[in-house]
Parts: sequence; C-alpha cells; structure tokens
Amino acid sequence: MSEKSKTKSFIEGLPEGFVKKVKGVLDFKPELFTTEITLPVIYFKCKEDIGAILKVVKKMDFGIKRPHFKHIDFPKKQIRLSAKFDKGEHEEQFRKNLDRGIQVEFSEEEFQFTYRNFTASEIFEMIFPEEIQRISGFATIGHIIQVNLKKPHFEYKELIGRILLDKVPTVKTVIAKNDSLTESEENKFRILPFEVIAGKDSLQTEHREHGNRFHLDMGETYWNSRLQEEHKIMSDQIDEKSVCVDLCCGIGPFAIPIAKRGIRTIANDLNPNSIKWLRINVELNFPRKRGVKSQDFISLMNKDGHDVIKEDVLKLIESEGVKKIECLANLPGGATFFLSSFKVLIKILKEKELPFDLTFHCYLFGPKYSSIEERYEAKLKVLKTLEESYEDLQKDAKITIREVRDISVDNLQYCASIRWTSENSLENRTQEPPEKKSRTEL
Ligand SMILES: C[S@@+](CC[C@H](N)C(=O)[O-])C[C@H]1O[C@@H](n2cnc3c(N)ncnc32)[C@H](O)[C@@H]1O
Repeated sequence: MSEKSKTKSFIEGLPEGFVKKVKGVLDFKPELFTTEITLPVIYFKCKEDIGAILKVVKKMDFGIKRPHFKHIDFPKKQIRLSAKFDKGEHEEQFRKNLDRGIQVEFSEEEFQFTYRNFTASEIFEMIFPEEIQRISGFATIGHIIQVNLKKPHFEYKELIGRILLDKVPTVKTVIAKNDSLTESEENKFRILPFEVIAGKDSLQTEHREHGNRFHLDMGETYWNSRLQEEHKIMSDQIDEKSVCVDLCCGIGPFAIPIAKRGIRTIANDLNPNSIKWLRINVELNFPRKRGVKSQDFISLMNKDGHDVIKEDVLKLIESEGVKKIECLANLPGGATFFLSSFKVLIKILKEKELPFDLTFHCYLFGPKYSSIEERYEAKLKVLKTLEESYEDLQKDAKITIREVRDISVDNLQYCASIRWTSENSLENRTQEPPEKKSRTEL
C-alpha cells in the first residue's frame, strides 16, 4: 500500500465528529487532535508465543504502526491490531494460520489518540478541505525541509511549517517554494525562490549524499535532493580513462564523486557563489590527512559553459593531446544551447584533423504526455529538440536518450548522451548517404 493510501485509510476510520472538528483550522492547536479510537486486540497467554502471533499478524497485514503508539502491551499481554481486522470475518482464518497449541483471545479496546500519534501527512489530510490539493514534493536538504505550495495552501503555510518542524525530527528549517513565484522568477543561476515558513531563518546547511558532504546556501545556489540517484548513476558512468568537464557544476554533486574516482575533472559554473561553495566542498571531500590532493583531480572555473567548450575543451584536445572527454550539463531548459558551441568545436577539430572522442551528457525536460504511446513520442520529441539546436546532429553523432525521473505525473527529465569521434567523422566523409544509417538508440 502506498504512503498516500495508508494515510487515507487510517483517516477514514476516525470518528466523523473528530475529523469535522479539525477540518479547516488555521492555527496550531495540537489539543484538537485528541480522540478515542476502538481497535481490535489479541490477548496472549505466554510471552514465548509473541513471535509466532506477530508472524500471522504480518502475513494477514493486520499490523498497526503509529508514531508513539506501542503495538504490544507486555503487562496486559496484549497485541494491538489495525482497524481492518474484523473478528467475525477474520478470526477463524487467523487461528488456522497460527501454530496449534498457541492460545489467544480476540477482543477490542478503546485508546486515546493525540496529536503525537498522527503523521504530518495525516494531519494535513485532516485539516485541508476536500477541494484543496494535497501537498506534494517534500525534499530534505540537510536540516532543511522543502515543500512545494500551491496558492490554496498559502493561508495554511505557517501551520504547515510548524507541523513539519514538529514531526520531522532532523528538520530545523521549513522552506516553501511556490509555483507562481517559480514561473516568474527562475533565473539563469537556477536559484529557486524560497521563503522560510518555520524554524531557523537560514538557508545554509550541510547535506550528505552517497558518502559525500555538501555545504550550501539555498539562497545562493541551486540544489535538488531528488537527483540523488542520478548523481550516482552519472558519476559511476563516466569512463575512468576520460577527462570530465562539468559545464554547469553547481556545488559539485556530479563533479565531486567523479573526481573522487580519480578522474581528472574540470568543474565550471557561471554562478560565482556555486564555485565559492564548491571550493569548500572540495576541501571537505578530499581530506588532506589521507594524502589526497584535490587539485590533482579537480580544477574549478567560473565561466560561461560556451567558452569552456570553445576554449578549454579545445585546449585539452589540441594542446594536451587528451582524446577522450566527457562533458555534462544539468541545465534543463538551457543545456541544448551548448550544442551550438559543440558544433563550432567539432568543426575546428575536423579542420585541424585532431583525434577526439567527445561525449556530451545533456539533461533536458521532455514535453507532456498522457499515455504510454505519447510517452514514447515524448522521447522522440526530445530528439527533435536536440536536432533543432544542432542541424545534422544524427549524421555527426551517436545519440542515446535515457529517462531520468518524473518531474510530474505527465512529464519527465531525460539525459541525452551525444558522442562524436574523429573516426565517426572520417567515416561520414567516405560513406554515402549517411542519412540512411540510424545512429540513435532510444
Ligand atoms: C540546474 S542547475 C544544476 C547544478 C548542478 N549541476 C546540480 O545538478 O546540482 C544549473 C547550473 O547551471 C549554471 N549555469 C547556467 N547557465 C550557465 C552557463 N551558460 N554556463 C555555465 N553554467 C551555467 C547555473 O548557475 C546552475 O548552477
């Protein structure tokens, strides 16, 4: 059962009068969340039988797991069950599943539930009127929790913040990103417009991910904890014989793990603050005491990614004789623009007859879809978007497109990996007609 339906099913079993009492409250009044709930219980004879009884409880899915609520009362010799258990309907089967010789009695008991016994999602579910959409998009960044609010949530925002602060133990600050602000104010550094709605008024934190530590200020740089898996997938995928150039590195979620694998990495970002935090993170993640010098693996730049491609990547190939380079850009909505600079670079490399093996991992959002067929078409449209940024792309390169994550129910983020090699371009000069050859894997 999903978390959402678990929340719903427990709430649905609560006394009607109680739910009515808390619906629409705007102030933080924990005392309102006190109610009596009758639950089925099992009385056991011997402590030694508990394990076998719980096995059946689990098998038949009648367990009850609530915050600050014990499911076993040892002095009373009582195991508490979820309200789904119906004595008339389930007792016989339960006894059949139980080892013979184990003695149990079924009964029910009234318990007092208070604010402490409900999760934050359940409290929101109870408070919000039916017509208000549930809050989605919780993400934690160190001690900060981020929520995405829609307009109807605004009048509840202090309450939402207070409840999250209360209910999520590690959280010290609650920040809200609201959709209307995002539309109008998203800027070139991709710093999202956040507002502190509860707790410590600071956007600075330390986030840990896959054994790496990242210090950051959400007001100065971009961060997205939902990309945690992708950070790992991409970092593990980079060929260890290549030089990696992260064109838009932010505070280093790709660049640091890649460099820690011993791969020479150039980490660039247009935002000086990203580089300021990245410098701190490099120090944190390459401890001096182990004798690892960060500068052997990672160098930082604060330039436009276009210039990095046309100047620094060219220099790597032309002056340093590096052949294999993997570039990446997690800049959905902007990364495809870098293709125009790759086009310029490839033209120069071909004219100079320099050997190269160049890959660009380009992150982008796809168009919306509403069915499986449309989902496949959406992927084809992603390819079209790439081609619009680079005429003759399929002729010059091999392209693979991978789905990265859902950004909403009908929209995905993708990673297109585009590979150009000098061998490829020679082949294209001699083979006719290249258009017939499909080089794309979707
Ligand atoms: C979506 S954020 C991703 C940051 C980081 N890669 C991550 O995944 O956390 C995009 C980053 O691109 C940077 N950026 C935007 N335009 C750029 C450009 N033309 N050249 C280099 N960096 C750029 C922004 O400052 C921002 O840090």
